[in-house]
Amino acid sequence: MNRLLPFERRHRAAPRRAAGRISAALAVLTAVLTLAAAAVWAHGDVTPQAVDTTGLPTLGEDWRDENPFRQNDAAVKVGTSAYNQNCARCHGLEAISGGIAPDLRKLDNDCVALKDAARKAACVKENDAYFLTTVRHGRSRNGAVYMPPFEGVFKQEAMWAIKAYLETRRDKPL
Ligand code: HEC
Repeated sequence: MNRLLPFERRHRAAPRRAAGRISAALAVLTAVLTLAAAAVWAHGDVTPQAVDTTGLPTLGEDWRDENPFRQNDAAVKVGTSAYNQNCARCHGLEAISGGIAPDLRKLDNDCVALKDAARKAACVKENDAYFLTTVRHGRSRNGAVYMPPFEGVFKQEAMWAIKAYLETRRDKPL
């Protein structure tokens, strides 16, 4: 039998305890770095800007589930300016993402390959709803604001105008 004396046991356990302390320290360091990165990435403190939607049809209080302003030139114009004021600092000028937030030109990419027109339309409509939900509520996780909510800042007319603008910037034509 290969029994260890009490001293030897302590001696052998020591490196393992040290390794435990190092990995605990690394875990803390990783957590701190992750939080720091999240704080840099999450520009939650920038002030959203109101959007002037004069000239666009009014949509009322009920939230639409599909973009009523698709290919509406006046809406695209309003949407371009609203995007530049409220979204570009994270999602990039002309919707070309610099990497800190998703590239919104790709929003409808998953619909491109669909051959059937009805299915394609349903896919775009689904993305409209996803878009609106994201813009209304923003994105927060674990106490960090990755994207601020825009509900209460501007109305759905402005949100759909931004989507109409983004549809002119699509990565791939539908
Ligand atoms: C402070 C930075 C910031 C601002 C300002 C911002 N976003 Fe975002 N947005 C993000 C980040 C970061 C994500 C990804 C969040 C996540 O990982 O959950 C995101 C996600 C999204 C998504 C989902 C994209 C996807 O592919 O899943 C949409 C749509 C979106 N934003 C639209 C907008 C619009 C429209 C505006 C302007 C009205 C806007 N965002 C303003 C940072 C921002």
